[in-house]
Amino acid sequence: MAKIVVTGKIPSGGLARLKAQHEVVAWEDAQPISRGKLLELVVGADAIVSLLTEKIDDELLEAAGSQLKSVSNVAVGYNNIDVPACEKRGVLVTNTPGVLTEATADIAMSLILMVTRRLAEGERVIRSQQPWQWGMFYMLGAGIQGRQLGIVGMGQIGIATARRAKAFGMNIAYTRRSPLEDHVIEELDAKYLTMDELIESSDVISLHCPYSPSTHHLIAENQLARMKKTAFLINTARGPIVNEQHLVDALKAGKIAGAGLDVFENEPVVNPGLLELENVALLPHLGSATVETRAAMADMAATNCLAILAGKPAPNQVFA
Ligand code: DGY
Repeated sequence: MAKIVVTGKIPSGGLARLKAQHEVVAWEDAQPISRGKLLELVVGADAIVSLLTEKIDDELLEAAGSQLKSVSNVAVGYNNIDVPACEKRGVLVTNTPGVLTEATADIAMSLILMVTRRLAEGERVIRSQQPWQWGMFYMLGAGIQGRQLGIVGMGQIGIATARRAKAFGMNIAYTRRSPLEDHVIEELDAKYLTMDELIESSDVISLHCPYSPSTHHLIAENQLARMKKTAFLINTARGPIVNEQHLVDALKAGKIAGAGLDVFENEPVVNPGLLELENVALLPHLGSATVETRAAMADMAATNCLAILAGKPAPNQVFA
């Protein structure tokens, strides 16, 4: 029997599968575990099932000990894990791709509608009981039909967002490091653009690339200055892909029309400048937050963890 450390609360199905085969030590509080407690909890673990709120770095691997075989993240993004450090110690890393694609794309599309049609702003008017009256020119938004959605990072979630946007009448442009399959290009009538071209020509830009040193502040002053004044920025990927202070400055100066954010540079802290702006919609990292999706993510992480402990290949291993 191996010792599995689960660093936060996960849905019961995945947890039960781990418990059925191994000793499980789980952090059961709703609040994320403190760093100090985490370093104590992982001592002697053969496997760790981690959440994106926990940093898995060399210090933690050292604390766990040389018997540690795997870290299974309950997330598709794994920027909280130092994968090269894991590889150096022979620790396998896995993630949960696919199962959260549709839920996250739903949130990206929701944010597109929220900011272009001023939905959050409108809701705030009603909720704060401000006087209002239907009017020909009252709270007009921007229509998205025939407008260009520029997807940065046309992976599974980018494609699923593009499908939704196409159904709303948007034209799809994208950037991607490797070529996109022909059938997807055809289905979406999608146009490849360089990052510069996409930034300058899109009416809505939606970020779907993974976060890594190469995408840190991919969107900063320079890119924001080259966006159309009427364009909107959507981020459901990871906060630090955008320089949040530069975004606040650009929004305040009217360099872009608005932003919809589900993720933040220093989560859960939100730049106070964003809170003052009416033309932003802000969500508390809800991309994968459906009951079904979270259950599927926990189940997938359990499958990965159990496979490695059984000496089998992990279905969703990631590499540096
Ligand atoms: C992920 O899996 O990376 C998502 O951000 C979780 O919501």
